Amino acid sequence: MLELQGVTKYFGGLPALEDVSFTVPGGAITALIGPNGAGKSTLINCISGIVPGDRGSIFFQSRDIAAMEAHEIAHLGISRTFQNLRIVPGLNVLDNVLCGLTVEANTSFIRAMLRPPSIRQRERYLRLKALDMLDTFGMTAKASLPMDSLPYGDKKRVELARAFVALPELVLLDEPVAGLNPEETAEIGILIRRMRNNGHTVLIVEHDMDLVMDISDSVVVLDSGKCIAKGTPDEIRVNPLVLTAYLGSIGAAA
Ligand SMILES: Nc1ncnc2c1ncn2[C@@H]1O[C@H](COP(=O)(O)OP(=O)(O)O)[C@@H](O)[C@H]1O
Ligand SMILES: [Mg+2]
Repeated sequence: MLELQGVTKYFGGLPALEDVSFTVPGGAITALIGPNGAGKSTLINCISGIVPGDRGSIFFQSRDIAAMEAHEIAHLGISRTFQNLRIVPGLNVLDNVLCGLTVEANTSFIRAMLRPPSIRQRERYLRLKALDMLDTFGMTAKASLPMDSLPYGDKKRVELARAFVALPELVLLDEPVAGLNPEETAEIGILIRRMRNNGHTVLIVEHDMDLVMDISDSVVVLDSGKCIAKGTPDEIRVNPLVLTAYLGSIGAAA
């Protein structure tokens, strides 16, 4: 589904990613883990076209997307969430999810203003699609509530619903359970696995090791911008390089 070859990114002369290569198989959940500052978010930004990489190739379904713009990449079927919530506070829940369908809306400004029957039909279809995804994420009853009024955990759910609503092939999730309690985390884990079972491919950046070990099919480990390990959750759990990277970062933080 996705293949990275030698992806490299510098910020002000310092490497955030150095020669990162790995593959994300279709229909599976791949976790991207590593200490703070390892380059995980930068990698998600490079794949989604938010930040241009300096070197390397990123093949999505055999096409090199490394030099493409973010909107082109979204059109190809890659969506994402952000490490920090990116919701529109003034809109209600349903409209926030509808934002995830702008790649499909496919209309001109004039047509949208005139709202001929075909457009209204299209709007109805998009709303049904958004409502359907809200149902999947257990948010139907809150569809018309303003985003501001929701607890944090529900906001994270809305972000996930928006990421999946256009039925993308590949979804990039940057710390989707950060700040959630263990119960909420487990529920989100079940939902992400359900989306995998529905055919979506997921690349998830996550610090919660229990969740990573529970839902991932494979794990990629970054440390200081370099890929230091790849394998199944069981292999990664006992990999000495990974243990050293995490202990090193704890030691540095202390
Ligand atoms: N826009 C930016 N400008 C300058 N440095 C950045 C920028 N984004 C990330 N970095 C740096 O790149 C490194 C990797 O950051 P990041 O990808 O956010 O790590 P992670 O998500 O693994 O915690 C860090 O040293 C960070 O300070
Ligand atoms: Mg990050």
